[in-house]
Amino acid sequence: MTLSYTREQHPSPRSDAEREAILADPGFGNHFTDHMVTATWNRDGGWHDGRVHPFGPIAMSPAAAVLHYAQEVFEGMKAYRHEDGSVWTFRPEANAARMARSAQRLALPTLSEEDFVGSLRALVETDEAWVPAYGTGETSLYLRPFMYASEAFLGVRPAHEVTYSVIASPAGAYFTGGLTPVKLWVSEHYARAGEGGTGSAKCGGNYASSLAGQLEGIDHGCDQAVFLDSATHTYIEELGGMNLFFVTSDGRLRTPALTGSILEGITRDSILTLAKDLDLQPEEDRITIDEWKDGVASGEITEIFACGTAAVITPVGELRWDGGSAASTAGEGGGEVTRSIRSRLLDIQYGRAEDTRGWLT
Ligand code: COI
Repeated sequence: MTLSYTREQHPSPRSDAEREAILADPGFGNHFTDHMVTATWNRDGGWHDGRVHPFGPIAMSPAAAVLHYAQEVFEGMKAYRHEDGSVWTFRPEANAARMARSAQRLALPTLSEEDFVGSLRALVETDEAWVPAYGTGETSLYLRPFMYASEAFLGVRPAHEVTYSVIASPAGAYFTGGLTPVKLWVSEHYARAGEGGTGSAKCGGNYASSLAGQLEGIDHGCDQAVFLDSATHTYIEELGGMNLFFVTSDGRLRTPALTGSILEGITRDSILTLAKDLDLQPEEDRITIDEWKDGVASGEITEIFACGTAAVITPVGELRWDGGSAASTAGEGGGEVTRSIRSRLLDIQYGRAEDTRGWLT
């Protein structure tokens, strides 16, 4: 059954002037639109009660299972305004498929692609005025679908009642420094995920487990932490909220292979596809942290960047670890290859380049 939505307008939405002031400098994750979407699932009735309603606090029991056992998954995607005023999302069916995989891993119910995309459409249609205008820098409306165990029950088992919501947040750059290369810290003591764990699912717990490593990095003057495989502490995995890419002097574009403990980034996948257009040879394999250190020193690695929906493509600078550092390959605003992949992706997303692969909806 396809979810349909009842619509309850916000009784006092922000004025045009208030909204425009927010859209002029949204930052990332600070502001939210006037409405949200909610739907409920229960074991007997499946998905029902789709609503578009005013954005506001969620009433839930202090015994709701998500608060105790973290049975939760989420997605992140953006709606972009094109020059003709139309609004587009990028590969939403890939987010729908990933959310279904994450939900299965966390023993949550799945939403069909049709219901997932329908929920985004319902919210973006209602709050379309919150999609920043074309040409206002790299701004967009960040969409955050999430699903959680809302049943009030303290036994450890998959919840019998689950809530799905979508909120939207006008967004500028994820990093306040824009294209300034980010400094990374090698997290040698804290792993983000392990074999057989939830590393490839987009669930809150993975992000929570990345925070201690990130804090350690901040204490050492870095912006983010690089996580290694939990078994050998040798292979590069990801940053916790972003995947990593390495450009080599012989024209390869390398990224850590999906081992099950790395998030299957949609930006990552798009870059692997776009690489061929730029005469780069994409390569997914296991990459050691020593290859990073040695490759930068020898000149074999010419550029490094991080990518994700929120962060788009961000140049990576210096790498630090307990007792040493590897120099930045990025210059002031990232290398030439990093910048050309970045513009190619953004040109498709903002409708400046032809969408030959049918990525826009
Ligand atoms: C995204 O890129 O959409 C994420 O969910 C990651 C987070 C760092 C915001």
